[in-house]
Amino acid sequence: MHTLYLLSVTLHILAAATWVGGMLFLILVVVPWLRRGGRSGAARFLHETGVRFRDVGWGCFALLAVTGAFNLSVRGVHLADFGDPRWRASSFGRAVTVKLALFAAAVALSAVHDFWVGPRATRALSHDAVAPEAQRLRGWASRLGRANALVALALVVTAVVLVRGLG
Ligand code: HEM
Repeated sequence: MHTLYLLSVTLHILAAATWVGGMLFLILVVVPWLRRGGRSGAARFLHETGVRFRDVGWGCFALLAVTGAFNLSVRGVHLADFGDPRWRASSFGRAVTVKLALFAAAVALSAVHDFWVGPRATRALSHDAVAPEAQRLRGWASRLGRANALVALALVVTAVVLVRGLG
């Protein structure tokens, strides 16, 4: 059982690193490089790498949810605990609750970005990249991406607190 737990935590951290690292690479490296202009095929490059990372991201979410739930169960957390106000008020209970709320926010922001705003922005930009509607949608897509990066960083901090306590 302990080997399975070690494997679960390892897969969990790898999935977290892939999702958080991928988003930071897009925001800190790819987008600024493309924004410098004069990049032929920039829109296509961003769209195709964005779609590829979307699939990887949702794969990471599924792995994080499964390994995360297993990690919680190994740490003795049961569904009934969430109904217990004393457990919820404990520093561990608070860290788990905050982490699950942040995870729900990350999934919701990704769904809006990946399946609604993102595809509409790509269509509008490929139709007329300078049109006000295309620029508005591109603005929303990048704001959603940056908001999700902040949620991702908060998730990692909460994870560290969850494992080690606030001291
Ligand atoms: C995007 C979402 C998530 C990210 C980025 C993330 C990140 C992390 C990281 C970095 C750790 C290791 C912390 C450390 O050892 O210091 C961790 C541990 C943990 N995570 Fe997550 N996690 C995510 C989602 C979840 C979900 C959805 C759950 C519960 C369903 C969960 C439950 C746990 C648990 C219980 C641990 C402690 C593992 C142990 O026993 O050492 N995580 N997480």
